[in-house]
Amino acid sequence: MIVANTDPRDRVILGIETSCDETSAAVVSGTPSHPVLRSLVILSQDVHRLFGGVVPEIASRQHLTGIVPTVRAALAEANVTLRDLDAIAVTHAPGLVGALLVGTSYAKALGYASDVPVLPVHHLEGHLFATLLEQPDAAPPFTALLVSGGHTLLLDVPEWGTYRLLGQTRDDAAGEAFDKVAKLLGLPYPGGRPLEELARTVTSSTIRFALPMVRKNAEPGDEDYYDLSFSGLKTAALHAVRKAEQGGSFDAQRAEIARAFQDAVVGTLVTKVERAARQYRRSRVVLGGGVACNVALVQGIRERLAARGGSVFAPSPRLATDNAAMIAAAGLFRFDLGERAAPSLTAQASLPIPGLVPA
Ligand code: KG4
Ligand code: ZN
Repeated sequence: MIVANTDPRDRVILGIETSCDETSAAVVSGTPSHPVLRSLVILSQDVHRLFGGVVPEIASRQHLTGIVPTVRAALAEANVTLRDLDAIAVTHAPGLVGALLVGTSYAKALGYASDVPVLPVHHLEGHLFATLLEQPDAAPPFTALLVSGGHTLLLDVPEWGTYRLLGQTRDDAAGEAFDKVAKLLGLPYPGGRPLEELARTVTSSTIRFALPMVRKNAEPGDEDYYDLSFSGLKTAALHAVRKAEQGGSFDAQRAEIARAFQDAVVGTLVTKVERAARQYRRSRVVLGGGVACNVALVQGIRERLAARGGSVFAPSPRLATDNAAMIAAAGLFRFDLGERAAPSLTAQASLPIPGLVPA
Protein backbone atom coordinates (compact mmCIF):
# COMPACT_ATOMS: atom_id res chain seq x y z
CA MET A 1 0.00 0.00 0.00
CA ILE A 2 1.01 3.59 -0.55
CA VAL A 3 2.61 5.61 2.22
CA ALA A 4 0.38 8.24 3.84
CA ASN A 5 0.08 11.36 1.71
CA THR A 6 1.21 14.55 3.39
CA ASP A 7 -0.67 17.00 1.19
CA PRO A 8 -4.40 16.51 0.54
CA ARG A 9 -3.76 17.54 -3.07
CA ASP A 10 -1.23 14.74 -3.51
CA ARG A 11 -2.22 12.36 -6.28
CA VAL A 12 -0.95 9.04 -7.49
CA ILE A 13 -0.81 8.69 -11.28
CA LEU A 14 0.13 5.69 -13.40
CA GLY A 15 1.66 6.78 -16.71
CA ILE A 16 1.69 4.67 -19.87
CA GLU A 17 3.72 5.48 -22.99
CA THR A 18 3.72 3.45 -26.22
CA SER A 19 3.93 6.10 -28.96
CA CYS A 20 7.04 4.80 -30.69
CA ASP A 21 9.50 2.06 -29.76
CA GLU A 22 9.60 2.16 -25.95
CA THR A 23 6.99 0.34 -23.89
CA SER A 24 7.01 2.29 -20.65
CA ALA A 25 5.04 2.60 -17.42
CA ALA A 26 5.71 4.76 -14.37
CA VAL A 27 4.13 5.89 -11.13
CA VAL A 28 4.36 9.56 -10.18
CA SER A 29 2.83 11.06 -7.05
CA GLY A 30 2.67 14.55 -5.54
CA THR A 31 1.32 17.76 -6.97
CA PRO A 32 1.64 19.28 -10.47
CA SER A 33 4.46 21.62 -9.39
CA HIS A 34 6.20 18.93 -7.31
CA PRO A 35 5.86 15.59 -9.05
CA VAL A 36 7.72 12.75 -7.34
CA LEU A 37 8.96 9.80 -9.37
CA ARG A 38 8.02 6.56 -7.60
CA SER A 39 8.91 4.09 -10.34
CA LEU A 40 9.86 3.95 -14.00
CA VAL A 41 10.09 0.91 -16.25
CA ILE A 42 11.22 1.30 -19.87
CA LEU A 43 11.29 -1.64 -22.25
CA SER A 44 13.32 -0.50 -25.27
CA GLN A 45 12.58 -2.39 -28.47
CA ASP A 46 16.10 -3.19 -29.61
CA VAL A 47 14.75 -5.27 -32.52
CA HIS A 48 14.50 -2.13 -34.69
CA ARG A 49 18.31 -1.85 -34.80
CA LEU A 50 18.27 -4.76 -37.23
CA PHE A 51 16.24 -2.66 -39.67
CA GLY A 52 18.02 0.68 -39.16
CA GLY A 53 14.79 2.38 -38.09
CA VAL A 54 11.48 1.79 -36.33
CA VAL A 55 9.21 -0.70 -38.12
CA PRO A 56 5.66 0.29 -37.08
CA GLU A 57 4.10 -3.21 -37.33
CA ILE A 58 6.82 -4.73 -35.20
CA ALA A 59 6.59 -1.88 -32.67
CA SER A 60 2.85 -2.50 -32.16
CA ARG A 61 3.35 -6.22 -31.67
CA GLN A 62 6.14 -5.70 -29.17
CA HIS A 63 4.00 -3.22 -27.21
CA LEU A 64 1.28 -5.87 -27.05
CA THR A 65 3.57 -8.42 -25.45
CA GLY A 66 5.34 -5.91 -23.23
CA ILE A 67 2.57 -3.71 -21.87
CA VAL A 68 1.16 -5.97 -19.12
CA PRO A 69 4.46 -6.94 -17.44
CA THR A 70 5.72 -3.34 -17.80
CA VAL A 71 2.71 -1.86 -15.99
CA ARG A 72 2.81 -4.58 -13.33
CA ALA A 73 6.50 -3.94 -12.72
CA ALA A 74 5.96 -0.17 -12.41
CA LEU A 75 3.15 -0.65 -9.87
CA ALA A 76 5.20 -3.17 -7.87
CA GLU A 77 8.32 -1.00 -7.89
CA ALA A 78 6.29 1.96 -6.56
CA ASN A 79 4.62 -0.33 -4.03
CA VAL A 80 1.11 0.72 -5.11
CA THR A 81 -1.95 -1.19 -6.26
CA LEU A 82 -4.59 -0.15 -8.79
CA ARG A 83 -6.80 0.93 -5.86
CA ASP A 84 -4.22 3.58 -4.88
CA LEU A 85 -4.38 5.31 -8.26
CA ASP A 86 -6.15 8.61 -8.84
CA ALA A 87 -5.78 8.28 -12.60
CA ILE A 88 -4.11 6.47 -15.48
CA ALA A 89 -2.38 8.93 -17.83
CA VAL A 90 -1.72 7.60 -21.31
CA THR A 91 -0.08 9.03 -24.42
CA HIS A 92 -2.84 9.21 -27.04
CA ALA A 93 -1.03 11.41 -29.62
CA PRO A 94 1.12 11.99 -31.61
CA GLY A 95 3.06 8.93 -32.75
CA LEU A 96 2.68 5.65 -34.61
CA VAL A 97 -1.03 5.01 -34.54
CA GLY A 98 -0.79 1.23 -34.05
CA ALA A 99 1.70 1.69 -31.23
CA LEU A 100 -0.42 4.40 -29.56
CA LEU A 101 -3.51 2.21 -29.82
CA VAL A 102 -1.92 -0.46 -27.64
CA GLY A 103 -1.36 2.03 -24.81
CA THR A 104 -4.72 3.79 -25.11
CA SER A 105 -6.73 0.56 -25.40
CA TYR A 106 -4.92 -0.99 -22.47
CA ALA A 107 -5.30 2.15 -20.32
CA LYS A 108 -9.02 2.32 -21.07
CA ALA A 109 -9.56 -1.36 -20.27
CA LEU A 110 -7.54 -1.11 -17.06
CA GLY A 111 -9.33 2.08 -16.03
CA TYR A 112 -12.75 0.60 -16.74
CA ALA A 113 -12.01 -2.65 -14.92
CA SER A 114 -10.53 -0.95 -11.85
CA ASP A 115 -12.77 2.13 -11.80
CA VAL A 116 -9.89 4.56 -12.21
CA PRO A 117 -10.26 7.58 -14.52
CA VAL A 118 -8.12 7.74 -17.66
CA LEU A 119 -6.39 10.90 -18.83
CA PRO A 120 -5.20 11.49 -22.38
CA VAL A 121 -1.75 13.11 -22.52
CA HIS A 122 -0.05 14.67 -25.53
CA HIS A 123 3.41 13.16 -25.96
CA LEU A 124 5.12 16.54 -26.47
CA GLU A 125 3.54 18.04 -23.37
CA GLY A 126 5.02 15.02 -21.58
CA HIS A 127 8.52 15.91 -22.83
CA LEU A 128 8.05 19.44 -21.41
CA PHE A 129 7.35 18.00 -17.93
CA ALA A 130 10.23 15.48 -17.89
CA THR A 131 12.87 17.79 -16.38
CA LEU A 132 10.52 18.91 -13.59
CA LEU A 133 10.76 15.38 -12.15
CA GLU A 134 14.43 16.00 -11.40
CA GLN A 135 14.74 19.77 -11.10
CA PRO A 136 11.90 21.68 -9.40
CA ASP A 137 13.05 24.95 -10.97
CA ALA A 138 12.40 23.63 -14.49
CA ALA A 139 9.01 25.38 -14.33
CA PRO A 140 7.44 28.15 -16.45
CA PRO A 141 8.05 30.72 -17.64
CA PHE A 142 10.71 29.23 -19.92
CA THR A 143 11.90 28.75 -23.47
CA ALA A 144 11.56 25.11 -24.52
CA LEU A 145 13.47 23.16 -27.14
CA LEU A 146 12.10 19.71 -27.94
CA VAL A 147 14.48 17.75 -30.10
CA SER A 148 13.84 14.08 -30.77
CA GLY A 149 13.81 11.56 -33.58
CA GLY A 150 10.32 12.67 -34.60
CA HIS A 151 10.05 16.31 -33.54
CA THR A 152 11.97 19.57 -33.44
CA LEU A 153 10.03 22.39 -31.80
CA LEU A 154 10.90 25.71 -30.26
CA LEU A 155 8.28 26.95 -27.82
CA ASP A 156 7.72 29.77 -25.40
CA VAL A 157 5.98 28.54 -22.25
CA PRO A 158 4.58 31.37 -20.10
CA GLU A 159 2.72 28.86 -17.89
CA TRP A 160 1.89 25.16 -17.93
CA GLY A 161 -0.82 24.51 -20.49
CA THR A 162 -0.05 27.61 -22.60
CA TYR A 163 2.35 26.92 -25.43
CA ARG A 164 3.49 29.47 -27.98
CA LEU A 165 4.90 27.63 -30.99
CA LEU A 166 7.77 29.76 -32.28
CA GLY A 167 9.36 27.44 -34.78
CA GLN A 168 9.67 23.89 -35.96
CA THR A 169 11.58 21.91 -38.52
CA ARG A 170 10.50 22.26 -42.11
CA ASP A 171 11.83 18.81 -43.01
CA ASP A 172 13.83 16.33 -40.90
CA ALA A 173 13.73 16.29 -37.12
CA ALA A 174 17.10 16.93 -35.46
CA GLY A 175 17.37 13.31 -34.23
CA GLU A 176 16.41 12.00 -37.65
CA ALA A 177 19.27 14.03 -39.18
CA PHE A 178 21.67 12.61 -36.57
CA ASP A 179 20.48 9.09 -37.39
CA LYS A 180 20.81 9.55 -41.17
CA VAL A 181 24.27 11.14 -41.04
CA ALA A 182 25.39 8.47 -38.56
CA LYS A 183 24.33 5.85 -41.10
CA LEU A 184 26.41 7.58 -43.80
CA LEU A 185 29.35 7.37 -41.41
CA GLY A 186 28.80 3.64 -40.88
CA LEU A 187 27.48 4.00 -37.32
CA PRO A 188 24.68 1.86 -35.80
CA TYR A 189 21.06 2.97 -35.32
CA PRO A 190 20.00 5.04 -33.44
CA GLY A 191 23.00 7.10 -34.44
CA GLY A 192 22.86 10.20 -32.21
CA ARG A 193 25.01 8.87 -29.41
CA PRO A 194 27.61 7.06 -31.53
CA LEU A 195 27.91 10.16 -33.73
CA GLU A 196 28.48 12.34 -30.66
CA GLU A 197 31.13 9.90 -29.42
CA LEU A 198 32.88 9.92 -32.81
CA ALA A 199 32.76 13.74 -32.95
CA ARG A 200 34.36 13.90 -29.50
CA THR A 201 37.49 12.16 -30.78
CA VAL A 202 38.53 15.37 -32.57
CA THR A 203 38.77 18.82 -31.03
CA SER A 204 37.97 20.69 -34.22
CA SER A 205 37.29 20.04 -37.87
CA THR A 206 38.84 21.30 -41.08
CA ILE A 207 35.41 20.72 -42.64
CA ARG A 208 32.74 23.31 -41.92
CA PHE A 209 29.06 23.28 -42.83
CA ALA A 210 26.96 26.45 -42.98
CA LEU A 211 24.46 26.83 -40.11
CA PRO A 212 21.08 25.94 -41.62
CA MET A 213 18.37 28.63 -41.47
CA VAL A 214 20.63 31.14 -39.75
CA ARG A 215 20.67 34.49 -41.51
CA LYS A 216 22.55 37.34 -39.89
CA ASN A 217 19.99 40.06 -40.50
CA ALA A 218 16.92 37.97 -39.69
CA GLU A 219 14.42 39.67 -37.43
CA PRO A 220 11.49 38.47 -35.30
CA GLY A 221 8.54 38.06 -37.66
CA ASP A 222 10.70 36.70 -40.48
CA GLU A 223 9.68 33.16 -41.35
CA ASP A 224 13.18 31.81 -40.90
CA TYR A 225 13.84 33.59 -37.60
CA TYR A 226 12.79 30.56 -35.56
CA ASP A 227 12.17 27.80 -38.11
CA LEU A 228 14.65 24.99 -38.53
CA SER A 229 15.72 22.71 -41.36
CA PHE A 230 18.20 19.86 -41.43
CA SER A 231 17.81 18.20 -44.83
CA GLY A 232 20.27 20.57 -46.57
CA LEU A 233 22.85 19.90 -43.87
CA LYS A 234 22.31 16.17 -44.32
CA THR A 235 22.99 16.56 -48.06
CA ALA A 236 26.13 18.59 -47.31
CA ALA A 237 27.31 15.74 -45.06
CA LEU A 238 26.55 13.25 -47.84
CA HIS A 239 28.70 15.26 -50.29
CA ALA A 240 31.53 15.41 -47.75
CA VAL A 241 31.32 11.63 -47.28
CA ARG A 242 31.39 11.02 -51.07
CA LYS A 243 34.32 13.38 -51.52
CA ALA A 244 36.26 11.67 -48.73
CA GLU A 245 35.47 8.24 -50.20
CA GLN A 246 36.63 9.31 -53.66
CA GLY A 247 39.83 10.76 -52.21
CA GLY A 248 40.46 7.57 -50.24
CA SER A 249 40.34 9.47 -46.94
CA PHE A 250 36.96 8.37 -45.56
CA ASP A 251 38.39 6.63 -42.48
CA ALA A 252 40.61 9.60 -41.69
CA GLN A 253 37.78 12.10 -42.13
CA ARG A 254 34.82 10.32 -40.51
CA ALA A 255 35.32 11.99 -37.15
CA GLU A 256 35.77 15.42 -38.72
CA ILE A 257 32.56 15.06 -40.73
CA ALA A 258 30.73 13.97 -37.55
CA ARG A 259 32.17 16.92 -35.69
CA ALA A 260 31.31 19.42 -38.44
CA PHE A 261 27.76 18.09 -38.66
CA GLN A 262 27.23 18.24 -34.91
CA ASP A 263 28.75 21.73 -34.69
CA ALA A 264 26.28 22.95 -37.35
CA VAL A 265 23.23 21.39 -35.63
CA VAL A 266 24.29 22.75 -32.26
CA GLY A 267 25.14 26.18 -33.72
CA THR A 268 21.70 26.50 -35.27
CA LEU A 269 19.81 25.30 -32.21
CA VAL A 270 21.81 27.54 -29.86
CA THR A 271 21.10 30.57 -32.08
CA LYS A 272 17.34 29.91 -32.21
CA VAL A 273 17.06 29.23 -28.47
CA GLU A 274 18.93 32.42 -27.65
CA ARG A 275 16.69 34.45 -29.98
CA ALA A 276 13.58 33.06 -28.26
CA ALA A 277 14.89 33.62 -24.75
CA ARG A 278 15.84 37.18 -25.67
CA GLN A 279 12.56 38.09 -27.40
CA TYR A 280 10.37 36.73 -24.60
CA ARG A 281 12.77 37.73 -21.81
CA ARG A 282 13.06 34.23 -20.37
CA SER A 283 15.89 33.39 -18.03
CA ARG A 284 15.20 29.64 -18.12
CA VAL A 285 15.53 27.16 -20.96
CA VAL A 286 14.13 23.63 -20.67
CA LEU A 287 15.25 20.90 -23.06
CA GLY A 288 13.53 17.64 -23.91
CA GLY A 289 13.71 14.70 -26.33
CA GLY A 290 16.49 12.24 -27.15
CA VAL A 291 18.79 14.84 -28.74
CA ALA A 292 18.81 16.67 -25.38
CA CYS A 293 21.20 13.85 -24.32
CA ASN A 294 23.80 15.52 -26.56
CA VAL A 295 26.39 17.03 -24.23
CA ALA A 296 27.70 19.47 -26.86
CA LEU A 297 24.17 20.83 -27.37
CA VAL A 298 23.47 21.29 -23.67
CA GLN A 299 26.89 22.91 -23.13
CA GLY A 300 26.46 25.15 -26.16
CA ILE A 301 23.11 26.48 -24.95
CA ARG A 302 24.41 26.77 -21.39
CA GLU A 303 27.42 28.84 -22.45
CA ARG A 304 25.33 31.18 -24.62
CA LEU A 305 22.65 31.63 -21.94
CA ALA A 306 25.17 32.08 -19.13
CA ALA A 307 26.35 35.29 -20.82
CA ARG A 308 22.92 36.80 -20.06
CA GLY A 309 22.42 35.15 -16.64
CA GLY A 310 20.12 32.38 -17.89
CA SER A 311 19.84 28.79 -16.65
CA VAL A 312 19.46 25.68 -18.78
CA PHE A 313 17.62 22.60 -17.54
CA ALA A 314 18.17 19.30 -19.32
CA PRO A 315 16.70 15.97 -18.22
CA SER A 316 18.94 12.99 -17.53
CA PRO A 317 19.09 10.58 -20.50
CA ARG A 318 16.46 8.23 -19.02
CA LEU A 319 13.93 11.07 -18.86
CA ALA A 320 15.06 12.83 -22.06
CA THR A 321 14.17 9.88 -24.27
CA ASP A 322 10.63 8.50 -24.42
CA ASN A 323 9.35 7.39 -21.01
CA ALA A 324 6.10 7.11 -19.06
CA ALA A 325 7.24 9.21 -16.09
CA MET A 326 6.91 12.40 -18.13
CA ILE A 327 3.42 11.29 -19.22
CA ALA A 328 2.39 10.74 -15.61
CA ALA A 329 3.84 14.14 -14.61
CA ALA A 330 1.88 15.92 -17.37
CA GLY A 331 -1.12 13.80 -16.33
CA LEU A 332 -0.86 15.15 -12.80
CA PHE A 333 -1.25 18.67 -14.22
CA ARG A 334 -4.15 17.69 -16.50
CA PHE A 335 -5.88 15.76 -13.69
CA ASP A 336 -6.02 18.85 -11.49
CA LEU A 337 -7.59 20.78 -14.38
CA GLY A 338 -10.44 18.26 -14.15
CA GLU A 339 -9.71 16.62 -17.48
CA ARG A 340 -10.78 13.01 -18.02
CA ALA A 341 -10.86 10.80 -21.12
CA ALA A 342 -14.17 10.11 -22.81
CA PRO A 343 -14.90 6.40 -23.37
CA SER A 344 -14.44 7.12 -27.07
CA LEU A 345 -10.78 8.13 -26.55
CA THR A 346 -8.64 6.92 -29.40
CA ALA A 347 -5.10 7.28 -30.71
CA GLN A 348 -4.14 10.05 -33.12
CA ALA A 349 -1.03 9.96 -35.29
CA SER A 350 -0.77 13.74 -35.35
CA LEU A 351 -2.35 16.39 -33.17
CA PRO A 352 -1.18 19.88 -32.14
CA ILE A 353 -0.04 20.22 -28.53
CA PRO A 354 -3.02 21.39 -26.40
CA GLY A 355 -3.01 25.03 -25.33
CA LEU A 356 -1.32 26.44 -28.42
CA VAL A 357 -1.42 30.22 -28.59
CA PRO A 358 -0.28 32.36 -31.51
CA ALA A 359 3.33 33.56 -31.47
O1 KG4 B 1 12.98 11.21 -27.77
P1 KG4 B 1 13.51 9.97 -28.44
O2 KG4 B 1 13.96 8.85 -27.55
O3 KG4 B 1 12.46 9.33 -29.40
C1 KG4 B 1 11.65 10.03 -30.24
O4 KG4 B 1 10.57 10.50 -29.79
O5 KG4 B 1 12.07 10.17 -31.40
O6 KG4 B 1 14.71 10.44 -29.37
C2 KG4 B 1 15.48 9.55 -30.12
C3 KG4 B 1 16.46 10.36 -30.95
C4 KG4 B 1 17.22 9.51 -31.95
O7 KG4 B 1 17.15 10.15 -33.21
C5 KG4 B 1 18.64 9.50 -31.39
O8 KG4 B 1 19.63 9.36 -32.38
C6 KG4 B 1 18.71 10.84 -30.72
O9 KG4 B 1 17.45 10.98 -30.11
N1 KG4 B 1 19.78 10.91 -29.72
C7 KG4 B 1 20.84 11.75 -29.82
C8 KG4 B 1 21.67 11.47 -28.72
N2 KG4 B 1 21.09 10.48 -27.97
C9 KG4 B 1 19.93 10.17 -28.60
N3 KG4 B 1 21.13 12.68 -30.73
C10 KG4 B 1 22.28 13.35 -30.57
N4 KG4 B 1 23.15 13.15 -29.55
C11 KG4 B 1 22.88 12.22 -28.60
N5 KG4 B 1 23.74 12.02 -27.60
ZN1 ZN C 1 9.42 11.61 -27.77
